[in-house]
Amino acid sequence: MTKTLTYIRPYSATAVWGIIVKFIGSIAELFLPLLLDYIIDDVVPLGDMTAVLLLGLAMLVFSLVAMFGNIIANRLSVRAAARMTHDLRYDLFSRISYLKSGQVDAVTVPSLVSRLTSDSYYVNQMVARTLRLGVRAPILLVGGIIMTFVVDWRLGLVLLACVPFVTAAVVVITQRSIPCYAAKQAAGDDMVRVMQENITGVRIIKALAKGDYETRRFKGVSDGLGNTDFAAKKLMSLTNPLATLILNLGLVAVIVVGALCSCGAGSVLAVLTLFTMILNGMLGISKIFVVLSEGVASASRIEGVLDLDPAQSVGEYPRGDEGWAVQFKDVSFSYNGVENNLQGINFALRRGGTLGIIGATGSGKSTVINLLMRFYDVDSGAVYVNGRDVRSVDPAELRKNFGVAFQNDFLMASAVRQNIDYGRGLADEAVQKAADCAQAGQFISSLRGGMNYAVAQKAANLSGGQKQRLTVARALAGDPAILVLDDSSSALDYATDAAMRRDISLGYPSATKIIVAQRVSSVKSADLILVLDDGRQIGLGTHEQLLKECGEYAMIYRAQMGEDI
Ligand SMILES: Nc1ncnc2c1ncn2[C@@H]1O[C@H](COP(=O)(O)OP(=O)(O)O)[C@@H](O)[C@H]1O
Ligand SMILES: [Mg+2]
Repeated sequence: MTKTLTYIRPYSATAVWGIIVKFIGSIAELFLPLLLDYIIDDVVPLGDMTAVLLLGLAMLVFSLVAMFGNIIANRLSVRAAARMTHDLRYDLFSRISYLKSGQVDAVTVPSLVSRLTSDSYYVNQMVARTLRLGVRAPILLVGGIIMTFVVDWRLGLVLLACVPFVTAAVVVITQRSIPCYAAKQAAGDDMVRVMQENITGVRIIKALAKGDYETRRFKGVSDGLGNTDFAAKKLMSLTNPLATLILNLGLVAVIVVGALCSCGAGSVLAVLTLFTMILNGMLGISKIFVVLSEGVASASRIEGVLDLDPAQSVGEYPRGDEGWAVQFKDVSFSYNGVENNLQGINFALRRGGTLGIIGATGSGKSTVINLLMRFYDVDSGAVYVNGRDVRSVDPAELRKNFGVAFQNDFLMASAVRQNIDYGRGLADEAVQKAADCAQAGQFISSLRGGMNYAVAQKAANLSGGQKQRLTVARALAGDPAILVLDDSSSALDYATDAAMRRDISLGYPSATKIIVAQRVSSVKSADLILVLDDGRQIGLGTHEQLLKECGEYAMIYRAQMGEDI
């Protein structure tokens, strides 16, 4: 919470002005019943019309001050809250962009989405409302009670007797409702998760005619959110009626006491007005409790992310053999610490060489890439790039070596050229060469606008093969020392796949290449092929060696040969 509050500091002047103006407005409001009492009980009986008019004018002035004070103060508080939320959201977003992969896994993407959206909204509401009501409500409450004493101390005592009951009701209810808000926010995460799966998977849902199933699933999480929200609101909704009831009882007591003590009509009328103000003050305070309980829960969720340390430690590790561009030495790794996702991986690749990685889905191919680029750290063994343990190199430095096209990589909704350049300010020739080698040149020139063709969101206006070629072009364009293509030709026909590999070898001869594939034809000509099965290395060598030595590889080869070789 403290960290969130520091975001108000730059706008404290706006906030403080808001508080001052609100203070003046609220005080002006408090004086209205007092003037009313004075006019009715003391001035009207004298029959002095000028005095009545003058005091009436004074009441008008006080009303205007109260009204404009409220309007101006509300605007100031909204402005301060909006700006601090903007800053908070910005920092949260940039922190999320730098999180380590394991941290993202732990918080989960849907939860990050709702922290960026609904949680920052609750923080905004907390600040805006607390700035507005935080001044007004206590002034109306305390000032109202004091003013009642000024008008008539006996009536003041009646009122004061009601206050502890109302306070107790508000405090008890609010305390109970706070855990409900935390549950509500967790339910919000669930809903975002299902929503996100549905929107990203809309085609498969349609293809499998799973619309009904998904709608039911969505209804489930949506009901979950509704129920927790209802539980929280059900409790909080008790506050208003209960406070009103207690104060209404007090009101009856005021009239009775007023009659018994023969107080003036003006005094009773003034106290009744003050009563409404006091009630508003009470309810304002209970509202503050609501926004505070929501806001504090949200702030701690946001701070939970802001407090994560995205920096990867860089330490001293023994050097490996500098002769190799990439080397894995006895590497074992597990994502969740339960089962090994990689075990005993050993290989070394010379500079400019090509490594093919082949294996069934889930065998750990992409995991090898994740460790190579240090998205995760190995559990045992070591990964070397140019003879240096990846844990001993600054991650940003390390990743400069790579040009990567990830499996199912994303494209931005912007021009084709920008997708290839990706903000690196590359020369036109570099972009064109990359596009040509990735076999994208031809289809790009056939698009309307060519390189300026606008790629739609999620590249919905490109075919699967076109998307893959653009991601490969993006990987190539920076002329990387190490090129990684993770299943980047699965949507290409064999001829295009072969032409792409040939052109990349010719166009980027010095790059060390790592090609992950499911097809033997894509890795057949590599200098070294790593065969993975369920996280274990079951073969390493050239195509010819593996045909002889690795039964599984030979089997995959024969199975694929009939159709595609
Ligand atoms: N972020 C992750 N958290 C937990 N498990 C993961 C994660 N990514 C992949 N895995 C698991 O690790 C295994 C290997 O995955 P992966 O390397 O992506 O396989 P491949 O690329 O060969 O299809 C799979 O069982 C997969 O479920
Ligand atoms: Mg993969």
